[in-house]
Amino acid sequence: MYKIIPLFFALSQILLFSSCNHQNKSNKKYIIGFSQCTGTDNWRKTMLEEMKRELSFYDNIELVYLNADGNSETQIKQIEELVNRHVNLIIVSPNEVKPLSSIIQKVYDQGIPIVVVDRRTNSNKYTAFIGASNFEVGQNAGRYAASLMKGKGNIIEVTGLPDASPVIDRHNGFIDIIKQYPGLKYIKEFVNYNSGDSSTNKPIEDFLKNNLNIDLVYAQNDFMALDIYKICRKIGLEKKIKFIGIDGLPTKQGGLDMVENKFISATVLYPTGGKEAIITALNILDNKPYKKENQLTTTVIDSTNVRIMKLQSEKVLAQQLNIEERQKKIDEQILITKNQSTLISLITAALLIVLLFGGITYYYLKQNKKITARLAQQNEEISAQKNKLVEVSAKAEVAHQAKLNFFTNISHEFRTPLTLILSPLEELMLNSKVQATTKQSIQLVQKNVMRLYRLVNQLMDFRKIEFNKMQLRASANDLISFVNEIVSSYDTLAHNKNISLKFLTSEKNLQVWFDMTMIDKVIFNLLSNAFKFTKENGYIHVCVQKDNSNAIIIIEDNGLGMNADSISHAFEPFFQGEYENYKGTGLGLALSKELIELHKGSISVKSIKWKVTTFEIHLPLGNMHLKENEMIATPESSTFITEDAKIYITELNDRVYNNSETEENNTQKAYSILIIEDNNDLRNYLKAKLSNTYDIMDAENANTALQITFDNIPDLIICDVVIPGKSGLEITTILKNDIRTAHIPVILLTARSDENQKIEGMKTRADAYITKPFSFQFLEQTIETLLLNREKIKNHYSGEVLSASKSQTTKKTDRKFVSEFTAIVEENISNDNFCVENICAKMGISRNQLYRKVKTVMNCNANDYIVSARLQKARYYLLYEDLSISEVAFKTGFASATYFSTTFKNAFGTTPKEFKSQKNN
Ligand code: FRU
Repeated sequence: MYKIIPLFFALSQILLFSSCNHQNKSNKKYIIGFSQCTGTDNWRKTMLEEMKRELSFYDNIELVYLNADGNSETQIKQIEELVNRHVNLIIVSPNEVKPLSSIIQKVYDQGIPIVVVDRRTNSNKYTAFIGASNFEVGQNAGRYAASLMKGKGNIIEVTGLPDASPVIDRHNGFIDIIKQYPGLKYIKEFVNYNSGDSSTNKPIEDFLKNNLNIDLVYAQNDFMALDIYKICRKIGLEKKIKFIGIDGLPTKQGGLDMVENKFISATVLYPTGGKEAIITALNILDNKPYKKENQLTTTVIDSTNVRIMKLQSEKVLAQQLNIEERQKKIDEQILITKNQSTLISLITAALLIVLLFGGITYYYLKQNKKITARLAQQNEEISAQKNKLVEVSAKAEVAHQAKLNFFTNISHEFRTPLTLILSPLEELMLNSKVQATTKQSIQLVQKNVMRLYRLVNQLMDFRKIEFNKMQLRASANDLISFVNEIVSSYDTLAHNKNISLKFLTSEKNLQVWFDMTMIDKVIFNLLSNAFKFTKENGYIHVCVQKDNSNAIIIIEDNGLGMNADSISHAFEPFFQGEYENYKGTGLGLALSKELIELHKGSISVKSIKWKVTTFEIHLPLGNMHLKENEMIATPESSTFITEDAKIYITELNDRVYNNSETEENNTQKAYSILIIEDNNDLRNYLKAKLSNTYDIMDAENANTALQITFDNIPDLIICDVVIPGKSGLEITTILKNDIRTAHIPVILLTARSDENQKIEGMKTRADAYITKPFSFQFLEQTIETLLLNREKIKNHYSGEVLSASKSQTTKKTDRKFVSEFTAIVEENISNDNFCVENICAKMGISRNQLYRKVKTVMNCNANDYIVSARLQKARYYLLYEDLSISEVAFKTGFASATYFSTTFKNAFGTTPKEFKSQKNN
């Protein structure tokens, strides 16, 4: 597409350029105004024709022609009109000298080019003049008359308008010659003679009749000469009198014809100058050189040269006509060319459009092809992926089935041993010889076996549903008493947990078709969940009601609640909720949903986080929705309720290894252990098992755990990884990065058994990582080993002074003091200005208090302790780091190497240098 746009652009440029070129050929458009004094006679008509003929060669000139009909006032107005029309140039033949002079001058002064033709004004303020010299014309006529009359005879003159410059000049020129011949008599001048006007004819006719001595008539133009000739012929004088005219027009019945026909003797050629006027005007307009004064040639035409003049004129005329003809043809050709170029432009434009659209089409076709190819490739890839997916999913299905089969089989296998474990346990519980502490252990086993039993049952049910093997065996039962019985099984638990459990219904009896072995699981599951998530002083309400078509069971609690995400996935198999500590298998609700749907019922949940959670079950009334094989006449015995109550409720009982029930062993132990575990059973179990040997502290969340640690500085910490507040990993990181607690061994005890999880755990600088299920013996041994190792390291680095303090520091508060005191010393070991006062300020106690406390708890002097600590550190550096004696002295806060050596020798009986070399040996 982008390749086509520049192409189109280039072509349009060419088109534009060519059309511009075409326009440039024609010059700027001009308007020429032509003010003619009179236009009726042939001479004037010839002048106009000459102009038009010349203009026909130019297509950029417009001629505005105005005829004043021999009236000077009219001519002035017409010139002003031309100025107002903003013509580019004015050609004027002034009617009279005086009236026209000022307007011509005014136009000239305005900067409008003005070309005067034929007649003159009395000023030279005009752009150019074109015309023959009328004085010369008069002289030519005079000379001819003299020769014709052989210098003797009587002459009369006939003229036009007296104030016209030709009239004056022609008269003067004539007289100028005549006066040279004494025999020639100038008799009379007939002024303002108007050709063809009888009022001007009459006086001449009368004069000629009365003056028969007239030999020659000098008429200032050929028409007037012909007029007088006709008068003479009328009165029979035409042979006697000779006639001379002016103009010598080659037109029909013009001057040349008159000479040829011998009406007049001669005519003086007076060219119109029409063509020359146009040529000069165009030169002026185009800023080309031109002459201001252009005098046209004049000559006498008589019988001797009239023929040749006529021939010449005719030839010129023929040529003119020929030129005109050619011009016409050229015009036609131009028109054709113009039409053709318009056509070419149109064709080019069309071609461009075709090219453009062709280009666009080509581009899109190409794109289309590319897209199709890409799509085809993608299609292929997709179908290959699809095939792969089909293959993978088939394999996955096989694997899935195998897994489920395995689960089913293994679950089934579990049930028998679990039953076999449960019965002896029950027996043991009833045995009076068994000690109370042992019974607690048995109870814990029992509780967890029940849990396993429930999980195994749920797994099997789920598997049955998946294979459509779960057969509904519905019978008509009273839903009220059925639900009530289940709810009652939780009474003791509710009482122990201080939860208000209520069964609410307005119905006395509600007959519903349902499978008791299924609905009981649903209700047990929902109630157990409610108990798991509801804290002390909370409530759990179970309500049974009905509408027109359904029995409705509602189970509501004000426990932790669920977020929107948990709500939307609640019934999906294996979905584990948002609470780390309450993560189950994700089977209970999924199974409940399936069981309800087998009844053509529905189950839904609504929850407001931290406020309320409501499960609502709808079971259709009647049995129209059930198939024949889904119904049984008599219900099975309801002993499974007691069975399920055991399975579901035993698991929720927290009272095994309850603190209050654990015997408090008050004897002071050598070491203290902090157990951080949120699972009550496990925490209580560990507490019970370890309290014989160690002082036990416990915490179920991170904040309490950290508080206890910093307050009591336990000797070892057992920490679960997933606990509320902070993770076990975060707790370990905090403790290992605090000088007060960094030394405490931490055992991470967790179900996160993945290799990466173990690595992550050990990265926190934990001392051991034990995965659940764990062997208590292994845990016990780990604790012992860690404590022993710690003790050894401590002795190794701290030497006599520190080990001496050990036996005195078993009290919790004292341990805290020692921990803080030693941490401050450790932090400042390289500071040579560090002294007891700094410790007092940091611990917020007096100097005396500090001395006394150190003496009592650590059995040493505070100052001695600081020196001892510096020396122990120095021993460490000498042994394990490649430092000079001065560097060691500096790093352990001795002001000089000498002082360091002396102190070291006093304490260990050897100089640092010797000590270092001994070590190297
Ligand atoms: C025509 C005419 C010519 C003459 C010229 C003088 O109007 O009279 O015959 O030569 O004008 O201006």
